[in-house]
This record gives sequence, structure tokens and C-alpha cells, in this order.
Amino acid sequence: MQMNNIAKQRKTVSLPGKSIMKATVFIVASLFISATLLHFLGYLHFNVFAGFKLITKTNEPKFPYRCDVAQNQSHQTHHYSHNSFSRLNPNRSQQTTCPSYFRWIHEDLRPWKETGITRRMVEEASRTAHFRLVIRNGKAYVKRYKKSIQTRADFTLWGIVQLLRWYPGKLPDLELMFDADDRPVVRSVDFIGQRDKEAPPVFRYCSDDASLDIVFPDWSFWGWAEVNVKPWEKSLEAIKEGNNMTQWEDRVAYAYWRGNPYVDPTRGDLLKCNVSEHEDWNTRLYVQDWDKESKEGFKNSNLENQCTHRYKIYIEGWAWSVSEKYIMACDSMTLYVKPRFYDFYIRGMTPLQHYWPIRDDSKCTSLKFAVHWGNTNVHKAREIGEMGSRFIREEVNMKYVYDYMFHLLTEYAKLLKFKPEVPFDAEEITPDSMGCPATERWRDFMAESMVMSPSEESPCEMLPPYDPLELKEVLERKANLTRQVELWEDQYFQDLTKKP
Ligand SMILES: *[C@@H]1O[C@H](CO)[C@@H](O)[C@H](O)[C@H]1NC(C)=O
Ligand SMILES: *[C@@H]1O[C@H](CO)[C@@H](O)[C@H](O)[C@H]1NC(C)=O
Ligand SMILES: *[C@@H]1O[C@H](CO)[C@@H](O)[C@H](O)[C@H]1NC(C)=O
Ligand SMILES: *[C@@H]1O[C@H](CO)[C@@H](O)[C@H](O)[C@H]1NC(C)=O
Ligand SMILES: *[C@@H]1O[C@H](CO)[C@@H](O)[C@H](O)[C@H]1NC(C)=O
Repeated sequence: MQMNNIAKQRKTVSLPGKSIMKATVFIVASLFISATLLHFLGYLHFNVFAGFKLITKTNEPKFPYRCDVAQNQSHQTHHYSHNSFSRLNPNRSQQTTCPSYFRWIHEDLRPWKETGITRRMVEEASRTAHFRLVIRNGKAYVKRYKKSIQTRADFTLWGIVQLLRWYPGKLPDLELMFDADDRPVVRSVDFIGQRDKEAPPVFRYCSDDASLDIVFPDWSFWGWAEVNVKPWEKSLEAIKEGNNMTQWEDRVAYAYWRGNPYVDPTRGDLLKCNVSEHEDWNTRLYVQDWDKESKEGFKNSNLENQCTHRYKIYIEGWAWSVSEKYIMACDSMTLYVKPRFYDFYIRGMTPLQHYWPIRDDSKCTSLKFAVHWGNTNVHKAREIGEMGSRFIREEVNMKYVYDYMFHLLTEYAKLLKFKPEVPFDAEEITPDSMGCPATERWRDFMAESMVMSPSEESPCEMLPPYDPLELKEVLERKANLTRQVELWEDQYFQDLTKKP
């Protein structure tokens, strides 16, 4: 009986559905990095191994497939990959060129370009890692070292499993260490130009100019269940509809921010710029009480209902903030407070083109001027808002998130000087091994972000590295644009004080 079932499933497995499942629920909340807010929920137990099978009888793939049939069928994962991979539609597989921020992959890996990456370097990176990821023959294995905040590590691993389903058979064998905490840990001064010192390659969600950590897309692209932020594809659709609700002319002509101010002093500093009886810095700032939101079912924190102001402030928390892409997607002009940290895509954005730069050491005046400028250059402000949103929608959509992961991992694997091996105590991760034990929102988000059939397009075409002069010019141009804005601002306040 069971064997019959398996045989049937094998047949249907060779005919996977073509389109990615479209989920229909949109409940999106706004969010902020809040490392200490919630306890890790510990609801996932990664001891269930189960095969994944795709049924197309009803043309409605299921998630996860069958949690009651464990272990015995894990070998079936193969069928999905091999059969589907050969079915790439040749008409749709012409390559497009990757967005410019992909060029930073070369920069992030530059420290190991000459030396390559040895096993010793990778082992050294385990010092702070939450897990070791191994990819062998298109399968993913994990060895966990410690729990991450909330379920970051799990959703990151979930994303990697989806990547393998999106580009089956295309990922090289590799081993890497992932640190799922906020701030970068590999300081360049400790390694660059230091004889006999080898930098450990540590993957994480953000880095800064003084660090060598390798940036990777954060977990929220597959959902942030703890604060009810849906997988990125769904969030993006919801925000698009939200944008439609309040047209630019009808949007409030002030700078809006809502978030948790307690994660870092710079946010407390921002709150001083709120409108008061004595001062109007052209802002409307609000504190997000996540405890209250959580108790009330997040009904007041819907992201798509927050696209009601012409200007939206982005400010880092303890590190980069996940809120960035949701803020930038609003079609409002983003007022981007000078950051210390970068994530994987922000390096493709340019001040005055995609956002308006705000000083971090004089936030209130800077915000006041930004709003003043926008309200007197409405057309341009609107254009900056739309360009920023278009960048997020078109260059940071899930296709490119997977492409970024694909190219980063491919380039990284090229540098490995050893043969990746699966540690004896590692476990294979599959949609079922992760999905079956999951419950509630965690399960819903996995279902919604699950890749149901391979990409019909190839990964975008990777751009070559910047030559050093070119890179210098790109950075200088951005710095110049920021300086330009600061000069306008200084001029504005000088003129104000001169007036009687
Ligand atoms: C796995 O297979 C063994 C023998 O082939 C069987 O006894 C066992 O019940 C199966 N387990 C499940 C969960 O189906
Ligand atoms: C590809 O394009 C050609 C010509 O445009 C067409 O005849 C063919 O049916 C297409 N193939 C697929 C798989 O869509
Ligand atoms: C936006 O609203 C207009 C009508 O007000 C409608 O025709 C259009 O389809 C909407 N677009 C989206 C993306 O919801
Ligand atoms: C900022 O000012 C507005 C308007 O007075 C007020 O509603 C809001 O609560 C203030 N925000 C904070 C964080 O105090
Ligand atoms: C930046 O500004 C400096 C000084 O104004 C100028 O010499 C330089 O050419 C500018 N660089 C770029 C890339 O625009």
C-alpha cells in the first residue's frame, strides 16, 4: 500500500507545477530590530527527517508534504531536483544582467582572493557562529552551535533550502559558518596587513566599513513570525496596495517614523526631534510598543497602512534595521539617517536618487530642512520616493534575493581550498524537516515562502569586480551628493538666522 503510494508520487513528481504558489493572506506588521525583545521560542525540533514530494494531481502543491511519513522517504528529495531542472524553458532563460549591488560580492570576498579559504579559516569562524552550513550534491546540512535570537537562524536556513529548490542542481558544494547576531565581529585592523593572520570568513546579515564580515540576506525575506511580518513577496504586494490607498498629494507633508527607540541611543536621539509645543522639526514620531501590539494581534502595526506620509525616516537600531526595505517601498521619500552598517543591497542605492541623506549628528535640523525642501520641490521629492521604491521592488525582489545568494555562495565556493564534508553529527534540512515541527505563524510563513517549482529563468549574469579607481569614484560620488545636501541645509539655516 505504502509502496504503491510512493510509486504514484514518483510519477507525479516529474510534473511539478510551473508557477510559484500565490498566497492570499496579507497581514503585515511593521518591525524593528529588537534583539532583546522576545525569547527564542524553541518550537522547532530538527530531528524529523522526511522526504519532500510535490503532488500536481490537483495542481496545488502542499506544504509540507507528509509529516507523518518520516525518515523512510528522504531519498525522494532527489526526484524533484533532477526532473525539474531539465525543464527550464529555453525561451525564458536568456540572462539578464545582475543589479549593480551584486558587484559588492567581489569586494566582500576580496580578503580571501589571493589566499583562498582553507579549512582552518572556516573552523576559526565557528567561534561566533550559530551554525555551520554544508551543501553537498545539492542537499543542505546543518550543524548547530547555539540558538539564535528568536528564529532567525531557522528562517535563514529555510531560505537556503528554498534557494536549492529555486536553482536545483546549480549550487556548488560548500561549507560556511553563519553568525546570526546583529553586529559584525571580524575587524579588519586585526587581519589586513597583519602577517600570519588569517581572517575567518563569517557570514552575517550586515557589516560595516571596519569589518570583513560577509553580508547575506536576512531572515525576514522568508518572514519574521515573532512580529508578524510576512514573507517579503507578500509584504511587497500588501505595501503596493497600501501605496494605492493614499496618493502622494493626499499624504501628510511631515516626516514619519514609528519604532522601538530603546534598542540604540541614536533612536532615542531621534525622538528628541518630535514635534512639541516649542519646536516643529516637521516630524511625527511614534513609539511602537511591541508587547502591546503582540497582545492585540498586531492590528495596529500593518505596514501597508503606514504609507500615509510623504517622508519616512529610516534609522538603524543596534545594527542595520530590517525595517529598511518596508520603509523604502512606500513611494514616500525616505529620509535616511547616516548609517554605520550596511546590508547586502543598500550599497546599490545613491543619495538624492533613491533617498535623502540625513545627518546623524544633527538629526533635527537635518529633518526639518529635508521636509522643507521636499515641500518646496514636490515634484523632485516625489520622484526620489518613487525611484527608491522602484529599486526595492525591481532590484530587491525575491528573484534577485535568490540570485544574490546564488552568486555569493558560488563565488565563495570557488575560493575553498578543501573538499566540503558533511560532519557526522550534522542533519539534513528539507522542507519537511523544518516545516513539520513548525506551528502557527511560523508554519504559515514557511508555507507562504516555500518555492513550489524551480525558476524558469537562469540566475542573472554576474558583473565583474570594480577596478579600484572605479570603486573609489562610485564612493566619492555618493559622498559628494551627501555633502551637497549638507551644504544646502547649512545655507538654509544661515539664511533663516539672517532674516529679521
Ligand atoms: C519506516 O520503514 C520501516 C521498515 O521499512 C517501518 O517499520 C517503519 O514503520 C517506517 N516508518 C514510518 C514512519 O513510516
Ligand atoms: C520558444 O519560442 C519559439 C519561437 O518564439 C516558439 O516556437 C516555442 O514554442 C517557444 N517554446 C516554449 C517552450 O515556449
Ligand atoms: C490602484 O487603484 C486604482 C483605482 O483607484 C486601480 O485601478 C488599480 O488597479 C489599483 N492598483 C493596485 C496595484 O492596487
Ligand atoms: C510625537 O508627537 C505627536 C504629536 O504631538 C504625539 O502624538 C506622539 O505621541 C509623540 N511621540 C512621542 C514618541 O512622544
Ligand atoms: C567630488 O567632489 C570633489 C570636490 O568638489 C570633486 O573634485 C570630485 O571630482 C567629485 N567627485 C565625483 C566622483 O564626483
